[in-house]
Amino acid sequence: MAAQVGPSGLVVHTDINAAMLSNGRDRLLDKGLVGTVRWSLANAECLPFADQSFDCVTIGFGLRNVTDKSKALQSMFRVLKPGGQLLILEFSHPTTPGLKPLYGWYSFNVLPKLGKAVAKDEASYRYLAESIRRFPDQETLLNMMRDAGYEHSSYHNLSGGIVALHRGYKF
Ligand SMILES: C[S@@+](CC[C@H](N)C(=O)[O-])C[C@H]1O[C@@H](n2cnc3c(N)ncnc32)[C@H](O)[C@@H]1O
Repeated sequence: MAAQVGPSGLVVHTDINAAMLSNGRDRLLDKGLVGTVRWSLANAECLPFADQSFDCVTIGFGLRNVTDKSKALQSMFRVLKPGGQLLILEFSHPTTPGLKPLYGWYSFNVLPKLGKAVAKDEASYRYLAESIRRFPDQETLLNMMRDAGYEHSSYHNLSGGIVALHRGYKF
């Protein structure tokens, strides 16, 4: 995004968790991204920015973790400029025939074991599988976006719907 907006643009990187924000900040600094990127400890449910501040808001593998998702969608809508767009990248629900049971079995039986073996943290990977299962499916999220005011909302499935990219505009 920093490359897209160029030296005269601005990217604001946010997270509610100071340690996560700091980790992301270090990674950006390692890439030499200073000047164009700023950081803000922020709750997506009540973003600390003025109305109509941004051309684009993105949230990647984050909305699933937000407690009040509708409130976050409204908050992101408020800070978008007219003509601006919201992009949501998030785990979703498989749509490819036959994939759903296989993926469900993998998520609850293999993934936690992998988490235990590799990261020594089975519980977090169980939470990951559970949070994905509970997250609204593609059409439900689309309707939530429409309810929050987004227009021309649509989504694009990736990997058979395991992940989906939702997009909506503010006019
Ligand atoms: C799975 S991590 C993804 C982090 C990053 N987007 C990435 O792709 O590497 C989910 C993040 O959502 C953050 N988060 C959870 N609730 C939030 C909220 N209400 N507002 C802002 N960030 C939140 C967590 O602190 C966590 O860093």
